[in-house]
Amino acid sequence: MQEATKTAATVRLLDLHPPASNFARDVLTGLSDSPKWMSPMYFYDAEGSRLFDLITELPEYYPTRAELEIMGAFMPQIAARVGPRACVIEFGSGSGLKTRQLLQGLDRPVAYVPVEISRDHLVASASELAAEFPAIEVLPVCADFTAPFELPEPDAHQARNLVFFPGSTIGNFATAEAGQLLEVMHTEAGPGGALLIGVDLRKDRSTVEAAYNDDAGVTARFNLNLLERINRELGANFDLAAFEHRADWNAEAGRIEMRLISGRSQTVAVDGETVEFEVGETILTEYSHKYELSEFAELAARAGWRVEQVWTDAEALFSVQFLARD
Ligand code: AVJ
Repeated sequence: MQEATKTAATVRLLDLHPPASNFARDVLTGLSDSPKWMSPMYFYDAEGSRLFDLITELPEYYPTRAELEIMGAFMPQIAARVGPRACVIEFGSGSGLKTRQLLQGLDRPVAYVPVEISRDHLVASASELAAEFPAIEVLPVCADFTAPFELPEPDAHQARNLVFFPGSTIGNFATAEAGQLLEVMHTEAGPGGALLIGVDLRKDRSTVEAAYNDDAGVTARFNLNLLERINRELGANFDLAAFEHRADWNAEAGRIEMRLISGRSQTVAVDGETVEFEVGETILTEYSHKYELSEFAELAARAGWRVEQVWTDAEALFSVQFLARD
């Protein structure tokens, strides 16, 4: 049997020149604040992406499995909702399984528009998809999707835009920012547009805490990799043995809060500055919101979206939701 080879195709990039993120500045801003924090977007260097892939295979980490189950089981219904000849605009770039499932399952989609800030990653994954789906125009946009951006015009006429935002990435945003992002999606979808979004659901503390505190310790490595990345890229001297991973369910806010905790008082040198830690002092590294269906519907409604259909896995852990513009 021949091994499948990934061929890359040339794609037309719409480069909106998002301001380059500045790792050193962002890290020092968060570590100078009280309480200390870091942006979860910095988890995903090569090692962090590898660890996240391992997380998605963990027995305790249900979201990825549940979402793939839903997409597999209900694709005909999803395709019927979306209708023919959609232009799929993904917020983030999908080299993932879910994007392939969707492009395969929809009725003759005309174009696929991945939008993301990291140019290299965007172009690499868009080229792969273009080779795999020769009948679909692949039109990557390099932009910061948290604010409105210009869309490329496919050559073929599209019946509607479909914004795609899988993975419950919406959960990483605090409620106000999630609302703003839903507004940007509403703008980009345009008249007649729709949204297909993965939303993790509210559930008991033990299930959700286990998903972020796996027995194999992969999530802990994923979290601690942030400090390793700062050591590697900014020449910092974090002693990884002196920090511990922690993920707690905040029932009132409906979210997992992931932190790194300093086991002792210590001074760390980061990019020419020094950062002091007290014993037990924390760095907030990630929120992962889990929504009640009604709560998400209200948040979306404030951004002009109407929930038309909700699909869940057999255990109702996770949802994939189809929304239309009012
Ligand atoms: C990729 C943001 C959906 O919040 O569950 C997994 C990231 N963090 N384990 C999530 C993550 C810790 C994940 N998202």
